[in-house]
Amino acid sequence: MALMWMLVLSLSFSVAAEEALVSRIAFGSCANQTSPQLVWDAIVNFKPQVFIWLGDNIYGDLRRPFKLFGKERTIGPWKNVPRFVPSSEDEMLSKYKTAKTNPGYTQLRRIAKVIGTWNDHDYGLNDAGKEFQGKDTNQRLMLDFLDEPHDNPRRKQAGVYASYTFGPEGRQIKVILLDTRYHRDPLRSDGTILGNAQWTWLRKELNSPPSAITIIASSIQVVSNLSACTGPLFYMESWGRFPTERKRLFSLISNSKRDRVLFISGDVHFGEITRYDCGTGYPLYDITSSGLTQAVEKVIPSFLHFVLRFLAWVTPTTMRVMNNNCKHRSCTYGQPNFGVIQVNWDANPVELSFEVRGVSGEAVSSVITSLPEPEASNRKGKQQYCSLEVDLPWLVRHRLAILFSFSVAVAIVVQLGVLYMAISVMVKCLRKCKLD
Ligand SMILES: *[C@@H]1O[C@H](CO)[C@@H](O)[C@H](O)[C@H]1NC(C)=O
Ligand SMILES: *[C@@H]1O[C@H](CO)[C@@H](O)[C@H](O)[C@H]1NC(C)=O
Repeated sequence: MALMWMLVLSLSFSVAAEEALVSRIAFGSCANQTSPQLVWDAIVNFKPQVFIWLGDNIYGDLRRPFKLFGKERTIGPWKNVPRFVPSSEDEMLSKYKTAKTNPGYTQLRRIAKVIGTWNDHDYGLNDAGKEFQGKDTNQRLMLDFLDEPHDNPRRKQAGVYASYTFGPEGRQIKVILLDTRYHRDPLRSDGTILGNAQWTWLRKELNSPPSAITIIASSIQVVSNLSACTGPLFYMESWGRFPTERKRLFSLISNSKRDRVLFISGDVHFGEITRYDCGTGYPLYDITSSGLTQAVEKVIPSFLHFVLRFLAWVTPTTMRVMNNNCKHRSCTYGQPNFGVIQVNWDANPVELSFEVRGVSGEAVSSVITSLPEPEASNRKGKQQYCSLEVDLPWLVRHRLAILFSFSVAVAIVVQLGVLYMAISVMVKCLRKCKLD
């Protein structure tokens, strides 16, 4: 009897928990388990009801140092070993243990429901896709890390995609977690990111009964295609690198007649908010938070941060939301950060706010909008947030590469000049010596 009572109690409790109104969601990506994770305090202080991992939840693979010479050469035409190698199952387990027992994260797990997907480094290997051998083992380890029950369907499918619905009817938030790894074709193939089974599942999820807000979590950026402006210097992973797949995603969302779909993403080691106004009838936001510990400005000395900020500002963008709420002029943020979605359900219309926040909890980039959302700006004849990066004029699009080539050229000319002067001084001196 007591057992039955407990069962009834726990059942009704779980139903009640499912239906509690959710208005505070935090998310993040790229957490090095062995580096200090100071950001958790700010996340805990925000008191999120839900926390979403966006991948690189641990750095599972091993990274060899850049080496041009010696026995194990990781770069150059004579490189003989890969720079990244997968860890053994035991190593992965121990890394997950370090991550899970971090005191700040442990505290977060006590106050928030934690869900998540993965990216390349916790999948097992830098930039890896469907070809990666360790994917099934690592799927099990990742779902253990997230405490997914043993009978959870996620444990039987190929890939970690999943969906959750929070809140009471009429005020529901649906979170769709994508798996951008398990089925991904090679980069530059313009093949698939999600694979057939996940596409079928996603269509079903998007056509399921309506929710006030639908959040699609993707480890890699959906809206921004920075590579179009950083190539050929360097490239990053994003949906933009798979243009056909990206088009398919936007048209699936558009055809689903679901309103208020937005993206959250990680991966790039900086934070930014972007929007695309020509994918559906309303602005599609992508709030990128990266990383919880791994951030671009952390890899160089602080007196050089201004250079990175300048380069971020120089690199053109067509989708980034530029407003007065940004900490830096570029509206990117290269220090450790987390993302925040807040919903004021009592406002009329319902108010939505998106933020990237730094380790002391301060907003470094933010957008406030409402439900139902204002129409896309292109409808008013403006073309903002509509044109692709690849359609920028050549000189604008390649500004970074031009600046880089120009700096290299200047450096070479200066060096040649110095060399020439040195030689002519020597020649003069020699002549003088001979004469003497
Ligand atoms: C993680 O942090 C440790 C300690 O700071 C460092 O040695 C290691 O290289 C970092 N790993 C990555 C992938 O950055
Ligand atoms: C994104 O940039 C890459 C690299 O320049 C390009 O190949 C691709 O077509 C772009 N995608 C979109 C959707 O513009």
